[in-house]
Amino acid sequence: MNLDFSSVLPSFPFILKGLGVTLQIALFAGVLGFVCGIILSLFKISKIKFLGWIADVYTSIFRGTPLVLQLMIIYFGSPQVIGYQIDPFTAAVVSFALNSTAYISEIIRAGILAVDKGQSEAAMALGVPYRSMMLNIVLPQAIKNILPSLMNEFITLTKESAIVTTIGVMDVMRRAYQVGADKFRFIEPLLLAGITYYVIVMALTLIGKLVERRMRKSD
Ligand code: ARG
Repeated sequence: MNLDFSSVLPSFPFILKGLGVTLQIALFAGVLGFVCGIILSLFKISKIKFLGWIADVYTSIFRGTPLVLQLMIIYFGSPQVIGYQIDPFTAAVVSFALNSTAYISEIIRAGILAVDKGQSEAAMALGVPYRSMMLNIVLPQAIKNILPSLMNEFITLTKESAIVTTIGVMDVMRRAYQVGADKFRFIEPLLLAGITYYVIVMALTLIGKLVERRMRKSD
């Protein structure tokens, strides 16, 4: 093996600085995707067929094409579509949020359908309005059950965010490339980036487990 970290190790802090961007993209996109995902999942279970149809078409498009393509279309297409060039970070958050909405809506839809029917029947029998039934009775139970899947989605977003390198966002991945180009050593900085992603994903997994355990305790 011919690995030599001596020249790239001093650049490790430079690579680590990208973590802020990486996590911000995952966090903003995750929160936006969660809110929009709830709305889309309600469309999917709605009695109004047209809403369900729109939600299904949306999901099939965003799950049926590569995320890196969606990212590029949003970034490079913005001048033609909305008239001005959005910055790479915004393009990253928007495309990841749109993509995640499709995945999260499916997760939440499954979660809602898994809540015992007796819950909504009892609510309806008591005259609880639909909105309040969903918000206060069904969704809280659904979200509790799908917490592991939501955490999984967040981890996916964190790892997938590495593709924002392609539009020039200075995330962990791009910084690793830059160090490589600077030091003429590519594998070593990429390995450092790999370690960074791995540690973050392990930390997120641990947080997910803790939250899950706490939720179960409240049963
Ligand atoms: N590599 C996959 C794609 O390009 C990832 C999709 C993102 N996945 C997600 N759960 N948000 O389609």
